[in-house]
Amino acid sequence: MKQDMIVVFDLGSEENPRLAREIRALGVYSEIHPHDIKPEELKALPNVKGIILNGGPNRVVDGVEIDVAQYVYDFGVPVIAFDHKGGAQLPKEGEARTKMISDFVLGTCKAQTNWNVQNFIDDQIELIKKQVGDRKVLLALSGGVDSSVVAALLIKAIGKQLTCVHVNHGLLRKGEPEQVVDVFRNQMDANLVYVDAVDRFLDKLAGVADPEQKRKIIGGEFIRVFEEEARKLDGIEFLGQGTIYPDIIESGTKTVKAVKSHHNVGGLPEDLDFELVEPLKMLFKDEVRACGKALGLPDGMVYRQPFPGPGLGVRCLGAITRDRLEAVREADAILREEFANAGLEGKVWQYFTVVPDFKSVGVKDGVRTFDWPVILRAVNTIDAMTATVEDVPFALLQKITARITAEVRGVNRVLYDLTPKPSGTIEWE
Ligand code: XMP
Repeated sequence: MKQDMIVVFDLGSEENPRLAREIRALGVYSEIHPHDIKPEELKALPNVKGIILNGGPNRVVDGVEIDVAQYVYDFGVPVIAFDHKGGAQLPKEGEARTKMISDFVLGTCKAQTNWNVQNFIDDQIELIKKQVGDRKVLLALSGGVDSSVVAALLIKAIGKQLTCVHVNHGLLRKGEPEQVVDVFRNQMDANLVYVDAVDRFLDKLAGVADPEQKRKIIGGEFIRVFEEEARKLDGIEFLGQGTIYPDIIESGTKTVKAVKSHHNVGGLPEDLDFELVEPLKMLFKDEVRACGKALGLPDGMVYRQPFPGPGLGVRCLGAITRDRLEAVREADAILREEFANAGLEGKVWQYFTVVPDFKSVGVKDGVRTFDWPVILRAVNTIDAMTATVEDVPFALLQKITARITAEVRGVNRVLYDLTPKPSGTIEWE
């Protein structure tokens, strides 16, 4: 790692990620570390040019106000302390304190503005080569942003020493499995094992209506399929993972309780005994996307909207049937196409279709129909904890309705979900 670094010590601020991002936005690399870092860990951090002690409302832990040890102050680089007592927020970009940050980072610390995607990629390639040597790495490649970027980076670093496993469980969006094969096998010449597990998943899910049960089956079966494939391969010692910085931050720090546990490996059997390769674990999501773009991944993959692990399985409501699943997939493809045509791709946070397990009466070409409705949902959010509904132009809703009712088999109505979160969740199941 050749890049200069500013270390942010977590002294109970809720603004640590934002501060690190602001420093990176100046072009200087920054990492967040716990206040009780050991001297040897601090010494091992490369090119530290300055230290920020970032205090805040969670500074008192178990009745004691936490602080860094004296060796942090004596480390030999400039140290500055911020304290946002009572939950005060960092000012918005461009405000006086932001100026304080840039004065400190660029002026006092004289940190070089050499944090950029290309340097990051070069560093990671070197680090991956050093970690892996001539050994082999396995990666579960879903086609989502994080796993795709890890794959592209690992291919660049170690080529055919990487084996990617793509499990098609039948619950992906239209064109996604094909795109994974095309990008990684055809264009990037990767070792890609494509597993057609559609029947296996749909058979397991047959008749299961409870959403949590469906999730458990999809998650559990995914691990079993992946494990079976891993056991077929010889001499794999590493598992690549698309862990990103928010996964680590959200797993909790010394001062903030876990928002959710970091569960990327989620129950892989211990006897598989892999060492992890996690080259994106210090990147925020937008940096992951920039990295994917620089590595040559297509925009459709890099700027994908969030997609839940159980995929269309929780959008085909109740017990999944193949015909309704196809209806969700086709309707979703139309919605995405029309949003893209209208310039909404990348502007609306998440949009998708849902097909419930009831029918209603309609009429087509003078003939009575008894078919399913398709529900459209389009929402915006910052953290997915709350969400507002996108104000989709009425003419666009009409166009999508006309296309879905004309083109999707078994559908005779289209509804638009106007419910914010709360009271609705983003997904229907
Ligand atoms: P909800 O429905 O809880 O969704 O408001 C919030 C965000 O989480 C996604 N989501 C999931 N993601 N596995 C996932 O990986 C899941 O089981 C799951 N359920 C919901 C949802 O798409 C939205 O972005």
